[in-house]
Amino acid sequence: MTTIIDGKNLSEKILKNLKEEIIENNYTPSLAVVIVENNPASQIYVRNKNKKALELGIKSQIVELDENISQNDLEKEVERLAKDNGINAILVQLPLPKHIDAQRIIEKIPPNKDVDGFHPYNAGKLLSNQNPFAKPCTPLGIIKILDEYNITIEGKNVVVVGRSNIVGKPLAVMLTNLNATVTLCHSKTQNLKEICKSADILIGAIGKPKFFTHEFVKNNAVVIDVGISRDENGKLSGDFDFEDVKDLTSFITPVPKGVGPMTIAMLMSNTLELYKIQKTYSN
Ligand code: GUN
Repeated sequence: MTTIIDGKNLSEKILKNLKEEIIENNYTPSLAVVIVENNPASQIYVRNKNKKALELGIKSQIVELDENISQNDLEKEVERLAKDNGINAILVQLPLPKHIDAQRIIEKIPPNKDVDGFHPYNAGKLLSNQNPFAKPCTPLGIIKILDEYNITIEGKNVVVVGRSNIVGKPLAVMLTNLNATVTLCHSKTQNLKEICKSADILIGAIGKPKFFTHEFVKNNAVVIDVGISRDENGKLSGDFDFEDVKDLTSFITPVPKGVGPMTIAMLMSNTLELYKIQKTYSN
């Protein structure tokens, strides 16, 4: 029997707890989301993040910048937010336009305001299995899903397909830290089908609609689908052909309402954690 994982429900539970914690303690966390206008999909994500934050009592602002902004001016914007004591968490929406060196922008975010955990300080801490200020939101959401559904990670063969700095790479590190045996695959991987077929937990994060069919999935595998794109009919689709693989799996995340809502919940959770850390040190 397949269990379809309800990421929406779990995220709502987490958000409700965060909201209660914020109200009970009169906390005043604040998040700034920087978006360089170049991508309609990013704009939708950012608006959704903003709406959720406000519902929770997190002060949230969107800093919308022109897509032709220079490297220097964008760095200055981030530096301005970095210095602002009223802002606890900064997210720079990726991808950035091609003329921008994204890494240099990320490095302008103080590690204790780096809500994505992308700054080299936090990425290095994660790699060393120490506590970063924040861990990347999508990987963290996936770990929470596995935990909530009592899916054992330790000792399992986990295959992650997609090596982005946002999802695949940090996720591979986090799962390794949790004692999984992790294989990180990508566009140059040979024998991808065979490797995927060996996975107890198979995680797709490549952004190619319906790429993974039943040929990639072992019987009773856990499938986590990070992809979200539109198929040829304009319908939202994950990286997995859901109908084709569903019956083979023990657990599967749907798209939408799987991993996506968990990413936003983890962003809010990270914002609150950064606020609490900064509050402790400023008292
Ligand atoms: N673009 C897609 N996902 C993310 C994310 O988690 N953080 C940032 N900053 N940009 C993204």
